[in-house]
Amino acid sequence: MLRRLVLRQALSTSRRYLSERSSRPPLLSKCASFTSQSQDQSTTFIEHSENDRDSPPAPVNMSIDRSGLYNPTEHSHEPTSDSELIKHLKSIIKFRGGPISVAEYMEEVLTNPKAGFYINRDVFGAEGDFITSPEVSQMFGEMIGVWTMCLWEQMGQPNKVNLVELGPGRGTLMADLLRGASKFKNFTDALNIRMVECSPTLQKLQYSNLKCMDEDSTSENGIKRTISMLAGAPISWHASLDQVPSGCPTIILAHEFYDALPVHQFQRASHGWCEKMIDVTDDSSFRFVLSPRPTPASLYLMKRCKWASSEEIEKLNHIEVCPTAMDLTHAIAKRISSDGGGALIIDYGLNGVVSDSLQAIRKHKFVDILDDPGTADLSAYVDFASIRQSAEEASENVSVHGPITQSQFLGSLGINFRVEALLQNCTEEQADSLRTGYWRLVGEGEAPFWEGPDEQVPIGMGTRYLAMSIVNKRQGVPAPFE
Ligand SMILES: C[S@@+](CC[C@H](N)C(=O)[O-])C[C@H]1O[C@@H](n2cnc3c(N)ncnc32)[C@H](O)[C@@H]1O
Repeated sequence: MLRRLVLRQALSTSRRYLSERSSRPPLLSKCASFTSQSQDQSTTFIEHSENDRDSPPAPVNMSIDRSGLYNPTEHSHEPTSDSELIKHLKSIIKFRGGPISVAEYMEEVLTNPKAGFYINRDVFGAEGDFITSPEVSQMFGEMIGVWTMCLWEQMGQPNKVNLVELGPGRGTLMADLLRGASKFKNFTDALNIRMVECSPTLQKLQYSNLKCMDEDSTSENGIKRTISMLAGAPISWHASLDQVPSGCPTIILAHEFYDALPVHQFQRASHGWCEKMIDVTDDSSFRFVLSPRPTPASLYLMKRCKWASSEEIEKLNHIEVCPTAMDLTHAIAKRISSDGGGALIIDYGLNGVVSDSLQAIRKHKFVDILDDPGTADLSAYVDFASIRQSAEEASENVSVHGPITQSQFLGSLGINFRVEALLQNCTEEQADSLRTGYWRLVGEGEAPFWEGPDEQVPIGMGTRYLAMSIVNKRQGVPAPFE
């Protein structure tokens, strides 16, 4: 009953909020790209033999140009067209003396501190490579705000709560959440916002979009605070969840974070499951090879297979496992168990073993995973069943709810009321943008009302994206997973 009251109160906040803010302009949607799980990557797999590297080099005929001996020109043995990241990846493979896992490749490509895909630029929106739900419509962040306030209510309205966002992108979700919640002073006064972000460029963008200011004076413990003026709440940045101080009730949001975590890929071969690795060919390009023997990640494969039925595994020739996701979920569950609160994970994925989903997107188009690494996003389907298992294994004090579809999640939280309220006070152009955004968030397939160019038809993310929640059992069942 109390929960329903909070929900209603939060929805009425959303309505009040309408008159104070105009809608954001329309943006291209990334989900238009997600037309199938498995893309044809035209990949050739080569069974890797450890002898490849040990065989003696073929004899080479050399002629020597002596004219430059007194003033030799600078040269490199690497092809000059290689980017810093490609050189780095090749040097890891060279000095390791063998291929690297797909997970190591993915981690370097996305988050290498110097040249990773996310590190030096804004990759979102029409000018970037893809678009996410918070960028599609303000309603997404507002609905996550409703969910967060409901959970805070269920937690007994603690007067201090860590609101952690993992991988906040441009900070748009958090900005919409805070704007929507700004009328609920008790809630916003309790917030300590913690952004877990590896990209310095995105951290700066988040600082700006959340209207942050550094306080002049230092606080009691001698630390200078930064405040988001959207809610008057302190905000800080952390490289990982481990670095967020514990001991305070915690709410964790992870939207499109898990899909960026590095996956290991395994392929069924005549002699059992082999890990797919990445090597460099003689002509200096990347290629996939199969490991000849079990790799350390094979332990995670075995663990994942134990959580599945033999029928589920038997029909697969490829399996992806994400140890980082398992470990992160373990840490989330432990944190929620000790500090109270809950987590919300929204991503595209499956409630079961994921087969062969890793994909690369550049400028809103699929490209080969091995093509010009660092210039395209790499992402993989999230294995929600393994998140459930990891959380339940980590602590008896947490319960796991869902996954339910994004459409069910947003619908039950009242997105229909919100869009109707927004539509009552907007221009024709804003109304078109709202309808398109609404469809993208909750629809399935192509929007039936679309009259614009075929190639821009909005594609619904409503059933492809799933929502799951992990909460401390003290909090009961979180809305809207009842
Ligand atoms: C796909 S984007 C999603 C952004 C945002 N949540 C949204 O929905 O618009 C992934 C985000 O996670 C961050 N990220 C990826 N890997 C990370 C890691 N290992 N540690 C911290 N942040 C990471 C990226 O920089 C980016 O902000």
